[in-house]
Amino acid sequence: MIAKPFLSIEGITMRFSRGGATTEVLRDVDLTLTKGEYVSIIGHSGCGKSTLLNIVAGLTQATQGVVLLEDKVVDAPGPDRGVVFQNHSLLPWLTVYENVSLAVDKVFGRTKSAPERREWVMKNLELVHMGHAKDKRPSEISGGMKQRVGIARALAMEPKILLLDEPFGALDALTRAHLQDQVMQIQANLGTTVMMITHDVDEAVLLSDRIVMLTNGPSAGIGEILDVPLARPRDRIKLAADPTYLKCRQAVLKFLYERNRFVEAA
Ligand SMILES: Nc1ncnc2c1ncn2[C@@H]1O[C@H](COP(=O)(O)OP(=O)(O)OP(=O)(O)O)[C@@H](O)[C@H]1O
Ligand SMILES: [Mg+2]
Repeated sequence: MIAKPFLSIEGITMRFSRGGATTEVLRDVDLTLTKGEYVSIIGHSGCGKSTLLNIVAGLTQATQGVVLLEDKVVDAPGPDRGVVFQNHSLLPWLTVYENVSLAVDKVFGRTKSAPERREWVMKNLELVHMGHAKDKRPSEISGGMKQRVGIARALAMEPKILLLDEPFGALDALTRAHLQDQVMQIQANLGTTVMMITHDVDEAVLLSDRIVMLTNGPSAGIGEILDVPLARPRDRIKLAADPTYLKCRQAVLKFLYERNRFVEAA
């Protein structure tokens, strides 16, 4: 039985025009995600990963094609899609608490009372272990902490899907590992559907149910889709020597470095 698609990306083509010149970044991308699935998109720099995520987020309008979330057309940003950008996008003049409560008030302003909203903000900050820093401003916390607040803010909106654009990219290896584990745990507990952009092969294999590999641009498309049949919960230490893990890793490396080697655009 094929599970019903939750997110459906259908025939997405994206062209950017400037002056008389047009570049086709994505061509004919078709992809469906089922509910609760964790899907990573991997590909070389500049191939169009963020462009695809922005289209799903409703921040960019595709030239052709359509995105459906639970059968509804996506044509604008909305609280049903929680986006976490690579460069933490907290408002610097607000505290950690206020950054999250701004989003919570927007989404639940009419349905939850003020005390309920307060409790909800704190619950989501606790989820990423940031409750203790609620009164700090972004300039007073580390990059990893900012990223955790960004994730709390996205989760607090109770989105149908989390869209993560290289959420751990700017972090040191230890913080990255810690945060990846937290996201895996949150996803296991809440059953959130996730679409994550990355160019880290190990991260893709560790976190994903499926890995979508994009070909190099221009006119990038889906080259291959790899299933990652590893049981959850996943333990990074044990997996390091697991034959299935190593096979998946090898397949992605092969795709990226043999079949679709990175070529710097002129
Ligand atoms: N608004 C825009 N106008 C014109 N060109 C754009 C625009 N946004 C993106 N592009 C181009 O589209 C291509 C894909 O960009 P995109 O940001 O999606 O790449 P990416 O795969 O996310 O790269 P990276 O891994 O470096 O983040 C690039 O060549 C970029 O210059
Ligand atoms: Mg990008």
